Amino acid sequence: TDFRRAQNIDELRAVARRRVPNFCFEYVEGGSDDEVTLRRNRSVFEEIGFVPRTLVDVSARGQTVDLFGKPSAAPFLIGPTGFSGLLAKEGDLALARAAAAAGIPFVLSNASTLRLEEVAERAGGRVWMQLYLYRTRAFAAKLVERAKAAGLEALVVTTDSAIFGNREWDRRNYARPLKLNLRNTLDVALHPRWILDVLVPDGVPRFANLGDLLPPGRDSVRGAASAIAKELDPSLSWTDIRWLRDMWPGKLIVKGVMTAEDAALAAECGADGIVLSNHGGRQLDGAVSTMEVLPEVVSEVGGRLTVMLDGGFRRGSDIVKARALGADAVLLGRATTYGLAAGGEAGVAHAIDILKTEVDRVVGLLGCADLSQLDASFLRWPGHPMP
Ligand code: FNR
Repeated sequence: TDFRRAQNIDELRAVARRRVPNFCFEYVEGGSDDEVTLRRNRSVFEEIGFVPRTLVDVSARGQTVDLFGKPSAAPFLIGPTGFSGLLAKEGDLALARAAAAAGIPFVLSNASTLRLEEVAERAGGRVWMQLYLYRTRAFAAKLVERAKAAGLEALVVTTDSAIFGNREWDRRNYARPLKLNLRNTLDVALHPRWILDVLVPDGVPRFANLGDLLPPGRDSVRGAASAIAKELDPSLSWTDIRWLRDMWPGKLIVKGVMTAEDAALAAECGADGIVLSNHGGRQLDGAVSTMEVLPEVVSEVGGRLTVMLDGGFRRGSDIVKARALGADAVLLGRATTYGLAAGGEAGVAHAIDILKTEVDRVVGLLGCADLSQLDASFLRWPGHPMP
């Protein structure tokens, strides 16, 4: 239970690192190539300073925000991370339940290790699902039908991964997926609690949603990752977003936008929202941080689209800065994943709690009782024109 003593997300990360084998932790932690974008996602927050107001009555503070006409109890939600079942027992469900209990939405990765129907049914709350549009469009269409039948609120289509990023650490660790070499065997042996928590109850995690896509018996990690990589479609274009829009009556969100032009195209294609994202520094290395493009995107599509973003959010202050620049909400990737690895559902709940408490404290210290009153006048960002 030492995760409960973690004071912040970084300490939760330290607990996570001890709890799971190295190859699992590196899977969560790594970025592509030289990890320039991964670092930039964090360093950008140090460039942006706060300019607080004083002697403002902040005794009644609130952080509930509106997302697609419904309240979210915090200005953040849990974003999609594949293979969460590698980190804790029924990982996807643990994330979904912690989100539901906290009153925030959860985005299930299409590379989840539990079936979407099971997560929707057992978790409650607002469940969205992330999709890749596979070469086999009939399979993508089938997933959309399943999402509809399961009553999911939104589909999040990820558009930055038609070509897979260069994740060298994964290739080192998983050259033959889960075929244990001596190093990995030792690694696993040193984590008996992980064996008991994850491997014993769940077995080797499987890509549970992709059974129809992958050849029979190949939906386990053994070989499945390469089968999925082959199904990623480099011919993906805005036409496919229109195709999806025609098929899907719920909310449609495009994840992977980085420019005002593409945000406008998403709106033209009938999307309801976007997630500015560089995939947590795991795809195009050298890409700028999403905070840097947020102001121009908000001035292009703010009010027309729900504008969300992700990448590097580890402190409540980071989230408040994004709100002040016009974002509707922030998606968490690693922050809640650390919680999952550190303590399952309770660990995720702890991560959410840390961030909620931090947001509350920061808006109070800023002299801005409610998130809806935040704007760029509370920030100073040298060298950046402010909205
Ligand atoms: C991801 N991400 C991701 N995105 C997606 O659309 N589908 C997926 O299956 C995954 N899987 C995934 C696994 C892991 C371990 C990580 C860390 C990330 C990207 C994710 O949704 C998000 O864009 C980033 O994680 C945001 O950056 P931070 O918060 O991790 O810094």
